[in-house]
Amino acid sequence: MEELAACVTTNGSVLNVLSPENCDIEILDNGRTINDFIDNKIKELGSEDSEQPFYVANVDDMVKKHLRWITTLPRVKPFYALKCNSSPAVLRTMIALGTGFDCASKGEIQLALSLGVSPDKIIYAHTTKARSYIKYARTHGVNMMTFDNEDELVKISLCHPTARLVLRIAVDDTDSLRRLSLKFGATLGTVDKLLGRARELDLDVIGVSFHVGSGCTESSAFKQAIADARHVFDIASLLGFQMSLLDIGGGFSGRDDVGVKFEEVSEVINGALDEYFPSDSELEIIAEPGRYYVESSFTLAANVIAKRVVLDDTEHSDILEISPDKMIMYYLNDGLYGSLSSITLAPSLYKFVPYLPTADEGSEQKYRSIIWGPTCDSIDKLTDDYWLPELHVGDWLLIDNTGAYTVSIGTDFNGFERTHIYPVVTAETWHALNLSHA
Ligand SMILES: Cc1ncc(COP(=O)(O)O)c(C=O)c1O
Repeated sequence: MEELAACVTTNGSVLNVLSPENCDIEILDNGRTINDFIDNKIKELGSEDSEQPFYVANVDDMVKKHLRWITTLPRVKPFYALKCNSSPAVLRTMIALGTGFDCASKGEIQLALSLGVSPDKIIYAHTTKARSYIKYARTHGVNMMTFDNEDELVKISLCHPTARLVLRIAVDDTDSLRRLSLKFGATLGTVDKLLGRARELDLDVIGVSFHVGSGCTESSAFKQAIADARHVFDIASLLGFQMSLLDIGGGFSGRDDVGVKFEEVSEVINGALDEYFPSDSELEIIAEPGRYYVESSFTLAANVIAKRVVLDDTEHSDILEISPDKMIMYYLNDGLYGSLSSITLAPSLYKFVPYLPTADEGSEQKYRSIIWGPTCDSIDKLTDDYWLPELHVGDWLLIDNTGAYTVSIGTDFNGFERTHIYPVVTAETWHALNLSHA
């Protein structure tokens, strides 16, 4: 934890930024663990006759991720992508750790500024912005922003002519869960013309950005993207631009159990940076990680609010062939329209773990189960290929690794309340954060 001293914010004490009053954080003292917290919360809800789903946000996990980042990618400053999870405890943890922020809209910029983030620690990383949002950024001193097309340059020249622009290029993102270069990024063939247009408009282009896609599974994507960025730096130099910023975007996995490990990706990135942007150059290198910081730090506890046993159903005859006794449909109180729309894209990456199963899991009979969200829409399905011991109405399921693109996307469709978040931190980390600042 000594490394914390080097990175925690100098912008007000950690106690102020991340205090229990500010974001309802619970300090786990006297050896209490997150599991103890979950146990108590479930008992407490039971005694109140409530089955509201909830998240537990593990601040220690985010702090560990940050320490891992600064030791593994020392040349790259993280600008946390607020869109991924903008809950108060997450943002305040990032502020306490001293990261910058990637904001995608006026609302996100407003939120970051309202928490005391300095405008020069914000990159407005959206290439297609509303004019009023660009003006808002200018009025509030947010100058760094991305672009990838000529119309955007014209808009920026009218709304924020002194902006510090970052040219986002399209890169190979075929091995990513969410491909972003399908929608954003200038192709290498158009860079020359775009930079020429920026020059005509007297705009300052300070660097290049890219995004290899969210949930990238191929570290070579970063290497190729860094080589492409080098090519753009060279073109820009011929046109008279002195570029000083490289933004390697997001796409870093937030989990160690799926995809490429962070350390493996980092090794490739460090090698490519040394090859294409040797460390003696006057260059600031930033990244926009979202998933990396928060994916593994959230656990969802959802309640089985209803259940249907399917004994004989022609619609599900295929399932009943495999699971002859019965197939069971469960209805949880969070789902696609709640915070779990991302999970439905790749349900196989998630485990639905019964909370305190009544018997030893291994010896218990399991049934093929379909897990639905609570709304009246039939697309509100989490998985239809899951084997579970029989659950009962009122039981809880725990789903780990649910911090990325969950709570920031949820709706209250059908009147189901948004899932509450309980942030927790161990007393050890809490003291380390504060002591390291003292
Ligand atoms: C411009 C931009 N930066 C950063 C991110 C964060 O990506 P990730 O969560 O994969 O790190 C995204 C995600 O959509 C993005 O669009």
